[in-house]
This record gives sequence, structure tokens and C-alpha cells, in this order.
Amino acid sequence: MSAVPIAETLHGGEFLTVYKPDVLIFPTPEEVGRYAAQTVQEQIVTKPDSIFTFPTGSTPIEMYRLVVEAGLDWSRARIKNLDQYYRIDPLHQASYAVDMQKNLIDFINIPPENWAIPNGIAPDPDEEAARYEEVFAEYGPVDMAVLGIGPGTTCHIGFNERGSQLGSRTRYMPLDPQTRAANAKFFDDPRDMPEGSITQGIATILEAQRIILLAIGDHKAQGILRTLEGSIGPDAPASFLRYHPNVTFILDAPAASQLTISRN
Ligand code: GLP
Repeated sequence: MSAVPIAETLHGGEFLTVYKPDVLIFPTPEEVGRYAAQTVQEQIVTKPDSIFTFPTGSTPIEMYRLVVEAGLDWSRARIKNLDQYYRIDPLHQASYAVDMQKNLIDFINIPPENWAIPNGIAPDPDEEAARYEEVFAEYGPVDMAVLGIGPGTTCHIGFNERGSQLGSRTRYMPLDPQTRAANAKFFDDPRDMPEGSITQGIATILEAQRIILLAIGDHKAQGILRTLEGSIGPDAPASFLRYHPNVTFILDAPAASQLTISRN
């Protein structure tokens, strides 16, 4: 499946095609996880040396559980994670490195050098972002990026908070207060919640050949509505996905509950 072109729009002096993304709505979060896991598995079976970009957070946990259960061969695949807090020790209980290890990396046969995530304690975040932008670039574009969406009205992808531009690359990004409030729950001591992050940029993410975005729960409904039916722009960074020709939104019914436009 791929998205249908529906319009041309002028953005920053350039005409861009706007697509109508595929939107799949499932009754339960488990079915979202199952469909997402199948999509990842089909990708790796079809192209065993695929490069994936993967997210963290609570949404993809079921997808990872099923991917692990499938026991596929990851020996030739590469994973370039979306983002990491800055500053955070990679060994910290809430770091995205630990999150990935306990949900996926520790249970698949991916060689250690084939998995990358920004270094949350790099001395200079700008240098680390520039280094990370180039990770695995010599192997070609990311084949499949799996995304979540940020809390409330942030509409962030990765940690591209409101104000992120279409042309943005991997960089240091201060966190929106809504993000800090929502993610503090992942920290044993909420005062450890970092103020910033290193995230792949919007342009970096859009270079993936195929993108799937997962959202579950009614707390994502407002953001999904804004992303799919609002204007495309930096006040809803996920809306930039509508410039990509091959994006699928995989939603549960509560996350889709505010959509008004027919998806058929
Ligand atoms: C964080 C991550 C995002 C993720 C979002 C959603 O902010 N940086 O990449 O999509 O959380 O998290 P959750 O799945 O827990 O709702």
C-alpha cells in the first residue's frame, strides 16, 4: 500500500506533493501491535539487510514482544533508533538504550555494531547529532521507520517538538513541557527527567522508504486529528508525514476517535 497524492502545496518557495496517508484503525491496542509486528517481519523477510528506525515508549512494546516471539534472523539487519534524552547515562533505568535492550535488542541476534542510538552523555550534543546523522548512511536510506506520536498537542515524532522545520536534520532539541510532564512517569525519580534530547530531524525521518506511525489510546486522539486533518506545518511536526508517499497510520479506535474525514 502507499499513500494517494491529493494536492500540491507551496512550502518555503517549493511545490510539494501532499499525500493522503493510509490510515488503518483496529479495535484494540493488541491488534495495532500485531499488525505493526507483521509489517516489520515482512520487511525483514523480504530484505534481510534492511535498515530500520525504531521508536521507544509504551506504544511499540507489544510490537516488539511479537517480533521477538517470531524469532526471525536479524543478523544482517541494522537498527538506527530515533532519539535519546540528553543528558542521560545510557545505563540509566529510563534511557532509551535500556528501553530498547529490554524490549528488543537483548532478544534478537542483531550484531552489536548494527544497532545505534544517540549517546546521551556525549560531551557536545551538536557534535553527537552530526555524527549520528551519518550513522549507517553508507548503507543507503532507512528502509522502514516506525514512529510513535508525542503526548497532548505536541504532535512530535522522535523528539521533534513544535517549531521543528521540514528541513531539520538530527540535532539537539529541548523538550516541550507537555513531553516532560508525560514522560516523567518513566523515571524512578521524576526529578531526573532530562530537559533535552538528540533526535533525528524531520527531513532525516522523511528519507525512510516506508514509514508506519502507531498510536493507541484516547490521549492520542487530539494529536492524531491535528496531524491528519489540520494544516501541515511546524506547529504539528507529525503533519509533515503527509509529504511522504508511503506512510501508514496504524491506530486503535480510541486514538482514531476524533477523525472526521472518511478514510475509505
Ligand atoms: C517519546 C518518544 C517518541 C514516542 C513518544 C510516545 O516522547 N521520543 O518517539 O513516540 O514518546 O510515547 P508513548 O508511546 O509512551 O506514548
